[in-house]
Amino acid sequence: SGKSKVTIVGSGNWGSVASKLIASNTLKLHSFHDQVRMWVFEETLPSGEKLTDVINRTNENVKYLPGIKLGKNVIADPDLENAVKDANMLVFVTPHQFMDDICNKLVGKVNKDVEAISLIKGMEVKKEGPCMISNLISEQLGINCCVLMGANIANEASNLIAVEKLSEATVGYRENKEIAEKWVQLFTTPYFIVSAVQDVEGVELCGTLKNVVAIAAGLVDGLEMGNNTKAAIMRIGLREMKALSKLLFSSVKDSTFFESCGVADLITTCLGGRNRKVAEAFAKNGGKRSFDDLEAEMLQGQKLQGVSTAKEVYEVLSHRGWLELFPLFATVHEIAIGHLPPSAIVKYSEHKPMLS
Ligand code: NAD
Ligand code: 13P
Repeated sequence: SGKSKVTIVGSGNWGSVASKLIASNTLKLHSFHDQVRMWVFEETLPSGEKLTDVINRTNENVKYLPGIKLGKNVIADPDLENAVKDANMLVFVTPHQFMDDICNKLVGKVNKDVEAISLIKGMEVKKEGPCMISNLISEQLGINCCVLMGANIANEASNLIAVEKLSEATVGYRENKEIAEKWVQLFTTPYFIVSAVQDVEGVELCGTLKNVVAIAAGLVDGLEMGNNTKAAIMRIGLREMKALSKLLFSSVKDSTFFESCGVADLITTCLGGRNRKVAEAFAKNGGKRSFDDLEAEMLQGQKLQGVSTAKEVYEVLSHRGWLELFPLFATVHEIAIGHLPPSAIVKYSEHKPMLS
């Protein structure tokens, strides 16, 4: 029919909100099939029912986004291969640590002319160096992959895209502006304002690296140091985000840091995100309870990205001899693994003053 079929790979907290946004648009836009398929990592609920069955019966992801209707045209599918087989447009939105495995399972299973977009904040570190998730997708599957990042906390505390409060997002694309415009069209609603920039690495690195800064901000909250200190951490974090992005990819543009994916996402995540929340609890416990423990206790199956990203960034920094250039990023990792106390986030590192 020439209409694009959309499949969403992932169904967590943001994955469910993204499905809702997209499904409201495919009903309105003639160039898309109404039905949207959503791959769900299957699990059995305490009631004994399968999560996919409940989503298909109630139109709600009762585990990861309770209380929000996704739209009747969202079909939950536990079979990854089946979920992608007819799609022309693939939206990837899972916690980043699962993507290597998912890509391996998808090799040879997606249409060659399929277009992809990644909403995933994170990176993989391979022997050759860092590999952004959009790059993992495009290399493993041989397809083009844009990214969408922004100040978009799905439904924590006072951050309410799930109930249609206004926010903005940024699409990053490599070359093909027309494809980027198609993604902008698929995501834009009166409460979700999307613009496109030609800087896929810059957009993705903003989304990825701000999660490390959010851990630092949460530590400062747990230590009850107040807003001035937190603002200082955010400023230093933003500087390290920009410096590392540019060292890794010389094409990264300064202007990207002023888009929603940059400073705006940094602010919202440091004010109200999950990384912030769990890091606050970590500091309040004096670093005695691990992030893994606190994540399991506090997040009901949702996953933190900042702690593993800090480890991945640390590997890149130590491999390239850049640790001293990025004291904030390095210190977050050393605190997370218990080599430094939480208070080290505002102390002098061995080599350089942190607050300089
Ligand atoms: P989430 O944190 O709610 O993660 C849980 C999801 O992971 C569930 O769907 C669960 O079924 C799935 N899962 C668990 N084990 C798995 C496995 N072994 N293999 C595959 N899947 C498994 O997910 P989310 O909030 O949708 O986050 C996805 C991405 O979106 C992340 O990179 C995150 O940084 C980003 N993001 C999140 C938000 C937000 O507010 N939640 C906002 C913007 C971006
Ligand atoms: P948290 O995982 O810290 O909630 O951040 C989500 C996010 O990426 C907001 O844009």
